[in-house]
Amino acid sequence: MKKTALALIAASFAFSLAACSAPKAGTAQNGDLDFAKQTSTKQSSEINGRTVHYRAFEGIVYVNNPADAEYETLNIYVPEAYYSGGSIEGYTAENAPIFFPNPIGGYMPAKAGKPGHDPRNNNRPNAILTALSKGYVVASAGARGRTAANGKAPAASVDLKAAVRYLKANDHAMPGDAAKIIANGTSSGGALSALLGAAGNSKDYEGRLKDLGAAEAPDDVFAVSAYCPITDPGHADMAYEWQFNGINTYKKINITMLDYNVKRELVPGTLTAAEIKLSDQLKPLYPAYLNSLKLKDPQGRALTLDKNGNGSFKNHIAGLLGASAQQQLDAGKNLGKRNWLTVKNGKVTAVDFDQYARAAGRQKTPPAFDVVDLSSGENQLFGSAAADKRHFTDFAMQHSAAENAALADAQTVNMMNPLHYIGSSGVQTSRHWRIRTGTNDRDTSLAVSAVLAAKLQNHGHNVDYFLPWEVGHGGDYDLEELFAWIKQISTAG
Ligand code: DHB
Repeated sequence: MKKTALALIAASFAFSLAACSAPKAGTAQNGDLDFAKQTSTKQSSEINGRTVHYRAFEGIVYVNNPADAEYETLNIYVPEAYYSGGSIEGYTAENAPIFFPNPIGGYMPAKAGKPGHDPRNNNRPNAILTALSKGYVVASAGARGRTAANGKAPAASVDLKAAVRYLKANDHAMPGDAAKIIANGTSSGGALSALLGAAGNSKDYEGRLKDLGAAEAPDDVFAVSAYCPITDPGHADMAYEWQFNGINTYKKINITMLDYNVKRELVPGTLTAAEIKLSDQLKPLYPAYLNSLKLKDPQGRALTLDKNGNGSFKNHIAGLLGASAQQQLDAGKNLGKRNWLTVKNGKVTAVDFDQYARAAGRQKTPPAFDVVDLSSGENQLFGSAAADKRHFTDFAMQHSAAENAALADAQTVNMMNPLHYIGSSGVQTSRHWRIRTGTNDRDTSLAVSAVLAAKLQNHGHNVDYFLPWEVGHGGDYDLEELFAWIKQISTAG
């Protein structure tokens, strides 16, 4: 159960006494997973002309035997009002949900996030600061990434689970309600938040969590917010060619620049004959996979594809694009002329998915993720301590152009795929999901998030899935709507 307001006020008094003699935040002992022993600093930030005050507990190593103590740390922020019995927008120290954003991009190592302003979103207040202003307790965890020998898949996922375990083990000592953890992330971070939500308490992770000395507690989370999740690694290549086959020019993202710390650079080019052949081989593999999932739309109609890649699943995605356009039209926006969209009297009457794909444009060359020369970020993610980069699909392994290429084992690939866990026994999958992929996002096929949303829905989860109009690859761009959704799921029955 939760700490009482009175106890928090006592903690506040201890804070002022400890301020001169306590070790600086961030120097906590690795072997100590007791939040009550952490010290804080008082901090504040401006948001929309208002000052938000909060306590910062930074640099908490969240496992007893860290593999990398630089990254396996949590920053925890608590609205100051909760130390004097106050409430914010109906939340208190007892019932405030815990917003759990991960800062992971490009599957790179990531340090725990801080409140501030987001350079990726015109320097607007970031999600952490916005959450604090709305009364959430915030816990941002860092995690290991693909460039380190011990950061290969599924290390980041193990780390995030260990951080959740820390929060749950300390629920009695910490403000906020660890039964209401909302994971948030973008791109690879979106994939990892989805994995956290899908694979709650899965036994697959147990040994690795034990090795790290994670706290003894569950690791399921209440809700997931995933922006443009780069997921389903085993099938993302065929999904990409299902969408982009026949589009032979591209503007490719420079893959050494996937980390958010550097710019995404687009390099134009034309597919080689060998790449076109790979595309032609990958595209027909997708319908059989998609059909094997036996998905249904929200109205219960089967989502399928014929051997040419046409059918109700494709129409379903066209419908999602149409809904996005319709929302703009309803808001009085003029969408101009687009050859893939037919509008009559302010209503979308037709969407041509093939023309849409052409207009959106290809951004990756085939295979998009498991690259034959092992040059993608994902190849490095699925590496091992012995081999920095490996394949992770049979297709790329068979077509490998790399010397002595190795294939990651199926279990590791499954452990990076939320689809593997949804509906499987022995896991607690989050009840609430909000998934957003912009209509201008070409980092992975729209099919990837559509499949994730449909599978969750089909297993009875509460899914809010939408393709925001003309939004590219990114996240946290609609924080007012995100926190309105979090409020609604957190306070409903
Ligand atoms: C990210 C983007 C990608 O296109 C990708 O393949 C992997 C990760 C990212 O932005 O995190």
